[in-house]
Amino acid sequence: MHWRSKLLHPAPRAPSGFRSLATPVYRGSTVVFDKAADIADEWRQDRHGYSYGLYGTPTVLELGARIAELEGARHSFVVPGGQAALALVYLACCKAGSHGLVPASAYGPNRDMASGLLAGLGIEIETYDPLIGGGIADLIRDNTALIWTESPGSVTMEVQDIPAITAAAHARGVPVALDNTYAAGVLFDAFAHGIDINVQALTKYVGGHSDLLLGTVSVASNALYERIGTCWSLLGMQVSPDDASLALRGLQTLGVRLDRLERSTLEVARWLKARPEVALVLHPALPDCPGHDLWQRDFTGSASVFSFIFRPEIDPARLPGFIDSLDLFQTGYSWGGTTSLAVIYPDLARPSPDQGARLVRLNVGLEEPADLIADLAQALERMG
Ligand SMILES: Cc1ncc(COP(=O)(O)O)c(C=O)c1O
Repeated sequence: MHWRSKLLHPAPRAPSGFRSLATPVYRGSTVVFDKAADIADEWRQDRHGYSYGLYGTPTVLELGARIAELEGARHSFVVPGGQAALALVYLACCKAGSHGLVPASAYGPNRDMASGLLAGLGIEIETYDPLIGGGIADLIRDNTALIWTESPGSVTMEVQDIPAITAAAHARGVPVALDNTYAAGVLFDAFAHGIDINVQALTKYVGGHSDLLLGTVSVASNALYERIGTCWSLLGMQVSPDDASLALRGLQTLGVRLDRLERSTLEVARWLKARPEVALVLHPALPDCPGHDLWQRDFTGSASVFSFIFRPEIDPARLPGFIDSLDLFQTGYSWGGTTSLAVIYPDLARPSPDQGARLVRLNVGLEEPADLIADLAQALERMG
């Protein structure tokens, strides 16, 4: 052969038998078949063998399988981020004329998608009180196709009564999806509490180092595997094996990180609760948090994100100055990484517009809690 052809059809191969602890990063779009008759454009690669990189490389499928194992799912679809996971669930479950329900405490872009993209497709998504519990039965209509839950809720941290909601939904044949990012898929057993579709932004705790965006949509039933898988394959929601490899690495330390983050976060939250400037600390393990008793009943631990609300005497105009005078806490979106973060939401209308304007959300990282407390103390002192 000419050397140019040898470049593409080499005879030498690396010796086989390399056994590493790490999952290899498999890159590839084309999958080669042995014979023309074997060719199949089939997304169900777990059953039919590899067909095309769009449906998952071994690196990505291994990540999905490991998340499914941890969550007790039938299958986990890996998608480009938490927001992509939310979009996939909506598009798989709803069509023009459908009605859906989303808690008022849900992640902002989830609600924005409901009122924007989905409204434009003729899908009506209604907002409900996250603490409604079994009362959700009154909101279910004949055309209700999906009920979202998120527990604790984004920013305001309301813990939902998931068993009561799923019981009411299942009585009417409606699937319930949970944004289970807070629990990293492990601190709350979604499927044991009746959830049908369990979603995680792996971006947060599984990735764990603020250097990737990934999500998963996990299902327990074959029917939802087919429904979500068909939509997932058509939307072309594939992810890079490099990102999947980082998430696989993150999984190895998830246990120690969660243990440490829980302890440090509780220490910081309890310290803030005793401060005269603070009116309320919204952390599910503390009694002030709406739904705290449900957290005690249903969760096996708490995570690193929580919020606190300054007393009414403190003018919200002083909050940006407080954030800027923090040294260790950086300001920026997302959470679950190694670095502590603080963020304000000047337009937040929850728990009330007045309280929302005085709310700060913290993500506690892996710094020493005493240093974080000292940082908060000096920023509070500088507020005067
Ligand atoms: C609760 C929750 N769900 C979903 C997402 C979206 O995840 P991603 O940033 O991976 O799109 C976020 C992001 O902050 C989140 O906080």
